[in-house]
Amino acid sequence: MEKNHLNPSRINRLYCSQCNTAYDYRTAQTFATCCGKPLLISYDLDTDFPISRIKDRPNTIWRYFELLPVLDEANIVSLNEGMTPVIQLEKLAARNGFDQLFLKDETNNPTGSFKARGLSVAISKAKELGIRKCIIPTAGNAGGALAAYCAKANIAATVIMPAHTPRVFKDECFLYGAELVLIDGLISDCGKKAQEMNKEGAYFDMSTLKEPYRLEGKKTMGYEIAEQFDWELPDVIIYPAGGGTGLIGIWKAFNEMKALGWIKGPFPKMVAVQSAKCAPISEAVKDPIHWKENFTPEATIANGLAVPYPFGMDLMLDVLSASNGETVLVNEDEIMKGILEFTRKEGILVSPEGAATYIAFQQLLGSGKITEGQKVLLLNTGTGYKYLENIIH
Ligand SMILES: Cc1ncc(COP(=O)(O)O)c(C=O)c1O
Repeated sequence: MEKNHLNPSRINRLYCSQCNTAYDYRTAQTFATCCGKPLLISYDLDTDFPISRIKDRPNTIWRYFELLPVLDEANIVSLNEGMTPVIQLEKLAARNGFDQLFLKDETNNPTGSFKARGLSVAISKAKELGIRKCIIPTAGNAGGALAAYCAKANIAATVIMPAHTPRVFKDECFLYGAELVLIDGLISDCGKKAQEMNKEGAYFDMSTLKEPYRLEGKKTMGYEIAEQFDWELPDVIIYPAGGGTGLIGIWKAFNEMKALGWIKGPFPKMVAVQSAKCAPISEAVKDPIHWKENFTPEATIANGLAVPYPFGMDLMLDVLSASNGETVLVNEDEIMKGILEFTRKEGILVSPEGAATYIAFQQLLGSGKITEGQKVLLLNTGTGYKYLENIIH
């Protein structure tokens, strides 16, 4: 990245999301050992940081450097991730008798998904902290992103992935020089394997929300959305939720920008879309105490949505509650239909996860939970090209 003498990071605290206990943000940290919950980072958000300061910076996530946890810009590991386009979906909107339907298209990120954002920040931080080996359980996209950023940073990467993941996700790990371990099962089984392999603590565990840095990268989507909508947020944002870092991160960004004085309320309704084959959030909304007991997760063509036991469940439920949000379920046929509508009407081959957000939009429009005149933003979190094996038989 072009060096333009950024101001120091405004990071001021690392704390347990459950009990608020402070942890040292200058040393390598994983999750909160006090409560077994995610750690969160906070920043000095006084109003002495005008929007104008970022306006002319390079179009990557690092334009928000002061609001990210890396202390020294020399440690930035960037492949030019971020500032992905927001596209107005005129044809899909018209097809549904709607007007203001938009897509934030994460396709153009390095390795083809929004996972690049989180891994750019986390690997930059790993470099800063002198970490030499990382391990990640993944549904596919995060593994490729970790492998690419680790290659650039000279850090060893181990990726643990379900064996049924499309081949390209495995091949890219090999090409970027990562060690790949395949598991018969879902990402939760990969997570168990990662813990087992890391018994001696040889690796830094990059599991979703089991470290605090990937979330900070993901939150840049929220900053960009505000910037791209000229600091007036859309009414509804529809996000395909797996472990939930995008949902939690976007909401975190909105709150930070409000404290900075960059945006005013009201905030959007946040919608978490899940596959009917694996819908832990809607199970937890129905029964927050016993949801795991009668829950049988299955694989889906939207690999990133098959996250049976998200570590950040409480944080996702907080976002849904604070935003008067919704959970929506989509089935496999609907996801396929969504992909074909996107390709044939808009010329975009979205990921199955991205297609799911369009189906959710249709459902919410049908039930009157979205109404004409609102501004709705869908998130296409990755390219569909990596999923062709799932889509075409
Ligand atoms: C394309 C895509 N969309 C959405 C998700 C879900 O992301 P998160 O786990 O951050 O909610 C993933 C995760 O693998 C993904 O690869």
